[in-house]
Amino acid sequence: MTDAETLESAPLLDFRAVTTLEHEHRRLMDEHHSRVDFSTSTASSLPEDLRRELADLWRGRTRSEHRSVSIFATYTLDLLAAGAPASALSVACRAQLDEVRHAELFASLTRCYSDRDETPPAGISPIPDDASLSLVELAAVEALHLCVGAETFSCALLHALYGRARDPAVRSCVGVVLSDEIHHARMGWSYLRATLDDASLRATVQRELVPVFDGLHRGLFGTTRDEVDPLDAYGDVARDHGYMPTREQRALFAALVRDVWTPALPTLGLDPSALDGRYELGATAVT
Ligand SMILES: [Fe+2]
Ligand SMILES: [Fe+2]
Repeated sequence: MTDAETLESAPLLDFRAVTTLEHEHRRLMDEHHSRVDFSTSTASSLPEDLRRELADLWRGRTRSEHRSVSIFATYTLDLLAAGAPASALSVACRAQLDEVRHAELFASLTRCYSDRDETPPAGISPIPDDASLSLVELAAVEALHLCVGAETFSCALLHALYGRARDPAVRSCVGVVLSDEIHHARMGWSYLRATLDDASLRATVQRELVPVFDGLHRGLFGTTRDEVDPLDAYGDVARDHGYMPTREQRALFAALVRDVWTPALPTLGLDPSALDGRYELGATAVT
């Protein structure tokens, strides 16, 4: 067993434990955000097997929000190394805080389905490093990957979940997270708008465009087409609680290429034509 697996299977501390920092923590988590009333959850009305599957769904989302704290911590360090302006640093620091909020909210939502305390496993997610890139190039490619790519997709996904979900606690949680993710996407678009005037940096980011989007697509959907999920069997009621089948998420990604990335990437001086049709369902470029 590797050290990472040991950490995952045996959390060292409880993510939800209350410390003497709680007052300030709550201020950071709750200020300027709507409060989520978890007592409005309708989870208790669902059959046990569906509750178990939905707990798994939200537990997985909790884990990935928790890992996003480390991703934005690394991004912040790389922005510092690149000499990024203070406005880029402050919003990147804020994103770390936001991801703690998201992990905490989703852990509480998971508990509505599991009826037990939920804490994400200890751990961090590395973001891809590339020794051939300068520090400035690395920060720009990370902005493309994390914000222009991943967070923009996250906004579209959460927006779709918010529109479809019926459970009040799910809708409320997703709404709070979505309001933060919009900032996380925007900070990358804005950073690149300010930095890609440099032709050589722009050429590097252009070269990385397809590898970044392929990596993002692979990270979201894997490399197989086996998309059977136990929640598919529950139909609309699973969607009421925040489920969206993977095939629909793939279609959403393809729609974003057409409707968001293709029209918007040229505003950064980037040519998106290599993405055209690349992620349509049934396309063979990325599987
Ligand atoms: Fe998040
Ligand atoms: Fe985010």
